[in-house]
Amino acid sequence: MNRKQIAAANWKMNLKWAQAESLLNDLFKQPIHFSPNQQVALGVPFPYLSMALSYAKNHSHVEVAAQNSAQYASGAYTGETSAEMLQSMGVHYVILGHSERREYFGETNAVLAEKVKLALQNGLAPIFCCGESLTIRESGTQNEYVANQLKESLFDLSEFDFKKIVIAYEPIWAIGTGKTATAEQAQEMHAYLRSAIAAQYGEEVANSISILYGGSVKGANAKEIFGQPDVDGGLVGGASLKADEFLQVIAGLK
Ligand code: 13P
Repeated sequence: MNRKQIAAANWKMNLKWAQAESLLNDLFKQPIHFSPNQQVALGVPFPYLSMALSYAKNHSHVEVAAQNSAQYASGAYTGETSAEMLQSMGVHYVILGHSERREYFGETNAVLAEKVKLALQNGLAPIFCCGESLTIRESGTQNEYVANQLKESLFDLSEFDFKKIVIAYEPIWAIGTGKTATAEQAQEMHAYLRSAIAAQYGEEVANSISILYGGSVKGANAKEIFGQPDVDGGLVGGASLKADEFLQVIAGLK
């Protein structure tokens, strides 16, 4: 498998400083064995980016991700963090469009298109999240809904830029609920998204894009989900806060 296979942690707004330090210590106390195409991304809160970067720099195959970046380039936007700042400190990825940001902070597909553009202009690789609510899933329109999120936020990008994107499919009904999508449900959506990408950018680009699954991934189910042909790893919330669980998730990468 040439596509990058990624175990991405999303710590969300969790852990105090000392807890973050001890989690990173526990994660890295034994060497992790990676295949050439495998990678870990540590999506930590802004105050812990430097801490995570100091671990990542001693470990190949480990990158750091911010959990958000501003829709404006720079200037008088109190409390915001720009893509340029993140890039200048050595951050590689930025998670954009998480359903929690869409729901609680009003991020729309149009705002996300701006954030994605700025991230790319500043050399960051977006991990772009998409996914449907339970209501949409029950109405059977999830494929069109999620494809439209990609269309409205990503499909104006040039092929050159689009190839830098990582997609994370996170059905909202599976986030933090313990209710994982089945491996078949994940595969079905991932294959559909890959076909939507192929229709826009061609097969070769579609086959090169990593599509991660997120939603109640843990040590015990990672291998089965990641084993699906169109699932290229996961974006992991709760289980990324425990070293042994997250190490098991990493071990589930194909
Ligand atoms: P959980 O793994 O806690 O379900 O969260 C998933 C998620 O939102 C990752 O971004």
